[in-house]
Amino acid sequence: MAKRIQFSRYGGPEVLEYLDFQPAQPGPREVRVKNQAVGLNFIDVYYRSGLYPSPTLPAPLGSEGAGIVEALGSAVSEFQVGDRVAYATGPQGSYSELHVLPADNLVKLPDSVSFEQAAAVMLKGLTVQYLLRQCYELKAGETILFHAAAGGVGSLACQWAKALGVKLIGTVSSAAKAEHAIANGAWATIDYSHENIAQRVLELTDGKKCPVVYDGVGHDTWEASLDSVAKRGLLVSFGNASGAVTGVNLGILAQKGSLFVTRPNLAGYADSPERLRAMAAELFGMISNGQLQVDISSQYALKDAGIAQQALSSRQTTGSTILLP
Ligand SMILES: NC(=O)c1ccc[n+]([C@@H]2O[C@H](COP(=O)([O-])OP(=O)(O)OC[C@H]3O[C@@H](n4cnc5c(N)ncnc54)[C@H](OP(=O)(O)O)[C@@H]3O)[C@@H](O)[C@H]2O)c1
Repeated sequence: MAKRIQFSRYGGPEVLEYLDFQPAQPGPREVRVKNQAVGLNFIDVYYRSGLYPSPTLPAPLGSEGAGIVEALGSAVSEFQVGDRVAYATGPQGSYSELHVLPADNLVKLPDSVSFEQAAAVMLKGLTVQYLLRQCYELKAGETILFHAAAGGVGSLACQWAKALGVKLIGTVSSAAKAEHAIANGAWATIDYSHENIAQRVLELTDGKKCPVVYDGVGHDTWEASLDSVAKRGLLVSFGNASGAVTGVNLGILAQKGSLFVTRPNLAGYADSPERLRAMAAELFGMISNGQLQVDISSQYALKDAGIAQQALSSRQTTGSTILLP
């Protein structure tokens, strides 16, 4: 038996239960990982609340973790018992002491990256990799808008953009978060608790707006994001921290300047072991050459996942939060 977090109904953090469960034996192409650290992500809140429905209830939770290979399926040759590994693309169930997942979803951890760092950076860092380097390939000198720049994904985006020579304008909800974003390499910040985003973007870009806007806030920033994209530019809508964007009239894209919109997710970019491992190699390279510092702002015991989620969804956190089994 082992411990895990699960939920039997959708709702607030109170629906999370810390219970014993019987971990499965790995199938032929599966691996059982003894988690040493687990990543906390906003998507976990979407699953818990039911915004992203689970196929069955009770449901396990969590997509990201790092640990030690404990058991292998008969057809797994690329890993050995005792290997240090990390993962970010599910399946759900990383909020656990033991997690069984396909070998194709694992990467080996370099010795220079700790379990805690890996749990803090795999999902969010791979996301920043595909956002800044694949969805739109950023070029030095460009000015971009990135929402929630002091958050987990945002803190890494500020650093990665700076390393690319890109001027990142980051939105934040407080002066303390603005300081955090600037310390991570943001070129400028907009405090959207009292500033007009689109107006400030016009001022900061001398009227040019941005070739690409990255929006993980969703509902509350959608209009301002559209107004901040330059003609024929791209709006990357990659999350719903304030609620989902729904009911979009496509004609708005013509009115705002013949814009492009994409709604990507990590699973769509890290969709083969080769792509996942190439993206992870780039991420680990950024960490080992010092261009990316992993900011673990908070850590909680696994059993306190509900408290950790509450802090994340009520905007109290900066950087990454991890859970320790
Ligand atoms: N599509 C993908 O592949 C992918 C992968 C990873 C993450 N994401 C998305 O990226 C976003 C950031 O994820 P994260 O885990 O790093 O979270 P996070 O940024 O650490 O936390 C979310 C932040 O959103 C901001 N926010 C604005 N309005 C909010 C509201 N009404 N309620 C709560 N927060 C609000 C808050 O920053 P301020 O207080 O500064 O406003 C908050 O700190 C999320 O939308 C997540 O779903 C998408």
